[in-house]
Amino acid sequence: MRTLTGLQPSGTLHVGNYFGAMRPAVQLQEEGEAFYFIADYHAMTTTHDSDELRENARGVALDFLACGLDPEKAVFWKQSDIPEVCELAWILSTVCPMGLLQRCHSYKDKVSQGIAPSHALFAYPVLMAADILLFDSNQVPVGEDQKQHLEVTRDLVIKINESYGEGTLVLPEALIPEAVARVPGLDGQKMSKSYNNTLPMFGEEKPLRKTVMRIVTDSAAVEDPKPTEGAIILELYKLFAMEGDYDQMVADYQAGGIGYGDFKKRLWEAYWEFFAPMRQRREELLADPGYVDQVLANGAARAREEANKVLTRVRKAVGIR
Ligand code: ADP
Ligand code: TRP
Repeated sequence: MRTLTGLQPSGTLHVGNYFGAMRPAVQLQEEGEAFYFIADYHAMTTTHDSDELRENARGVALDFLACGLDPEKAVFWKQSDIPEVCELAWILSTVCPMGLLQRCHSYKDKVSQGIAPSHALFAYPVLMAADILLFDSNQVPVGEDQKQHLEVTRDLVIKINESYGEGTLVLPEALIPEAVARVPGLDGQKMSKSYNNTLPMFGEEKPLRKTVMRIVTDSAAVEDPKPTEGAIILELYKLFAMEGDYDQMVADYQAGGIGYGDFKKRLWEAYWEFFAPMRQRREELLADPGYVDQVLANGAARAREEANKVLTRVRKAVGIR
């Protein structure tokens, strides 16, 4: 069983990324083979500053390692270190109907947010399919928003295999962790950097505390019972707190007599403590600048071996070698 996932280095990672993508990836490295990468080619669809791209890619690598990615267990590399993925993306694009991409929500969403509608942004799902298929991946842990991209990937496998023979590409499956498929942001919408509603995983204590205090609540008075349905503080607290503490907060919501400020304080403490070991590991990694580069270089060498096996098979099948 081979698990593969990618993370775009486009800004500071947040709690939604952690529960939706990173934690499942770290857990899955204990089972079967784990292939994880930093999707810097993808980030180029929105980042046109070279220094920013390079720094973000390093930052995400550092964060992922701090969160428990173990380079002894998982192959970890930077997408652009294996440019062969672009060749596979081209091959896939030759069988990819325009309609399939025109239906993709993420393209429409990004354009409606003001991102320039480039060819790369439109073809984003094809490159993502190439990422997955270049490594004969079986399962892909991602958040719900990526489900449609996995469907595109599967359609492309079926088309390639119909045209060039069964077994040319391996059919992957999305793995979407139910409980954390949609971590809410400060305003209750899906937490996303595009909505400016994120709680970052790492950062300075004071601004992060302020961020927690900014969570949107209703206007219930201290003495009132508070609605638990769709309560953002509760949903986030559930991710960080022990079960008993979470149950206590639910009971306190229902009883009334405690204000939102106190609930936010409890959430803050649980959140800050939850990431404490990872924050410490991050500090250690920061003190050893060569380490991250070395991990990524080793990972790229291992990933390339796998990529070449698959690409050789595909080139032969389509008739270019
Ligand atoms: P953003 O929405 O902030 O741009 P990305 O699209 O870069 O985040 O997502 C990176 C990974 O984190 C993806 O696998 C995505 O599904 C997951 N993810 C992002 N936001 C959330 C969220 N709010 N809840 C669960 N998973 C999320
Ligand atoms: N599109 C994914 C995101 O925005 C990142 C990504 C790129 C990815 N290639 C991938 C995820 C391959 C899983 C597999 O989060």
